[in-house]
Amino acid sequence: MKIIVVENYEQLSNEAAKIIINQLQKKPNSVMGLATGATPMGMYEALRKAYANGEVSFKDVTTFNLDEYCGIDPNHPQSYHYYMQQNLFNHIDVKPENVHLPSATSDWNSAAKSYNDLLKQTKIDLQVLGIGSNGHIGFNEPGTSFEQETFVVELAEKTRLDNQRFFNSLEEVPRFAITMGIKNIMQAKQILLLISGKNKAKTAKRLLEGKVGTDFPASVLHLHKSVTIILDEDAYGLAK
Ligand code: PGA
Repeated sequence: MKIIVVENYEQLSNEAAKIIINQLQKKPNSVMGLATGATPMGMYEALRKAYANGEVSFKDVTTFNLDEYCGIDPNHPQSYHYYMQQNLFNHIDVKPENVHLPSATSDWNSAAKSYNDLLKQTKIDLQVLGIGSNGHIGFNEPGTSFEQETFVVELAEKTRLDNQRFFNSLEEVPRFAITMGIKNIMQAKQILLLISGKNKAKTAKRLLEGKVGTDFPASVLHLHKSVTIILDEDAYGLAK
């Protein structure tokens, strides 16, 4: 596990974007695993700027997002489809047919299976991850088997409370999502995990302690051979 500690969120975002840009310069047709949430927003901003400056192209890139809420329309401002369009896809030259997110509007179980079938036919070169305060990666909540493939998950109460800030009320936060499973995530060739802010300091400490168990899903990353974690000082604070 490679640990990079930077001063602040801006540096974390730039460092993460640099790793992605290096990957795309080395392999322009990379398959990228992408994440949503507050943490990677700065990274996407840095990628938009790099694209606008001609430093990187996404024209041969394929993307697979980690997850999507069930039962919300792709045009809903809190859907991850919408997030990806706004934060990245609308601004770059990725081909729409190369962009993949779980489609969770109806028949969630068969949508999860289709997404899993698609993932089985590919190999993700670089998977970006955030981490939930309860240690989830994707929406693999505590207790999820490390052998789990893409599935419909009932979100943990803690996750719904954490994500309430993006909605008008807790009631509006979806109860289910489709997520890549831990097994899918672990099949990526390389993983890049971003951890930012004081509210993630306890989570980061627990991860860096190194104990592996399904009660803390991100701990599975200790079993992967190519993981980079970027933390800002606020997130790293308790792990020193
Ligand atoms: P956040 O979410 O970046 O909004 O904190 C991270 C996650 O739940 O994976």
